Amino acid sequence: MIELDVPLGDRTYPVLVGHGARHRLSELLPIGVKRAAIVTQASIPVAVDPDVEHRVFAMGDGEDAKDLGTVEDLCRDWAQWGLTRGDVVIAVGGGVVTDTAGFAAAVYHRGIPVVQVPTTLLGQIDAAIGGKTGVNLPEGKNLVGAFWQPSAVLCDIEVLGTLPPREYRNGLGEMAKYAFLGVDHLADLPLDQAVAACVRCKAEVVASDEREGGRRAILNYGHTLAHALETAGRYDLRHGEAVAIGLIYAAELAKRLGRIDAARVAEHRHVVGSYDLPMIVPGSIGTDEVLDLFRRDKKAVTGITFVLDGPRGIEPVVVEDRAVLAAALDATR
Ligand SMILES: NC(=O)c1ccc[n+]([C@@H]2O[C@H](COP(=O)([O-])OP(=O)(O)OC[C@H]3O[C@@H](n4cnc5c(N)ncnc54)[C@H](O)[C@@H]3O)[C@@H](O)[C@H]2O)c1
Repeated sequence: MIELDVPLGDRTYPVLVGHGARHRLSELLPIGVKRAAIVTQASIPVAVDPDVEHRVFAMGDGEDAKDLGTVEDLCRDWAQWGLTRGDVVIAVGGGVVTDTAGFAAAVYHRGIPVVQVPTTLLGQIDAAIGGKTGVNLPEGKNLVGAFWQPSAVLCDIEVLGTLPPREYRNGLGEMAKYAFLGVDHLADLPLDQAVAACVRCKAEVVASDEREGGRRAILNYGHTLAHALETAGRYDLRHGEAVAIGLIYAAELAKRLGRIDAARVAEHRHVVGSYDLPMIVPGSIGTDEVLDLFRRDKKAVTGITFVLDGPRGIEPVVVEDRAVLAAALDATR
């Protein structure tokens, strides 16, 4: 079992990564907990035993279920059961479950502890680490949320065995991102060590900038184009697949801005290709449409902000030149 910490002073918490990590749940519950509310989805074949009185609360599947209605349902069910601030919420699922249950835990009784048991690869290396919780509004994704750090995270490699192949690939897109955030030889590591390396990287970034005042934005590497493709909505792309294309675009853009050389672009193509992820922008999306979607990105405050590689490493960069943005897009088609 690989044991890591997300170092946040008196809110520091452990992350266990390994085969069977979920069986360590009871020893990681906050001291004095009497009851555990387990939040999961009917389709997730992962049972956990907190070794205290517990009930299972099933929520719906997909982004539509990640909403305020589900948060209200969970909080009302917990209130009717008598869950208190001395108890715990245990989220067992992918990012949809960990984000929603984490947010419900953040607001129920003004905050009760949550233990995250991510069951997707994306959840283990990204969504369940770092304390961002939240839900969608009809107006947009993740528009309501809170920073609420878990008291522990259990990344059980065994549970990934039942993930549909497409969901596994989805996680590989985010994994490819970490290869450019300083995690070396990621593709050569056994899965538990690769997950742990990504967790260590995210933990270090989160510890340095918990509330995304600056550096945490580097975790959005590859995401500006990814969000544009997802917002356009006409493509059969999972988030991680869109990020993979976004990584190639970010490299092509950085090269045109003189920040990296052709060899570094080739490295991006090699890493993304080695995970068998898509690298090409769908042909039917027009350049003008993409550039307009960039402008609507959450990070576009003073111009279009990209997270780009360069001599000082990965950092946010404002890009205004439409011709450069368009040329990089052509190179990604
Ligand atoms: N909070 C953050 O920092 C953060 C970071 C990245 C992504 N996210 C969020 O994460 C969400 C996406 O998460 P996701 O990709 O894990 O998708 P998901 O939670 O929708 O899970 C994908 C599918 O896999 C199923 N599933 C989960 N675990 C399984 C298992 N072990 N076996 C079989 N099926 C299983 C789920 O029921 C679901 O149908 C998005 O809403 C995104 O906004 C949050």
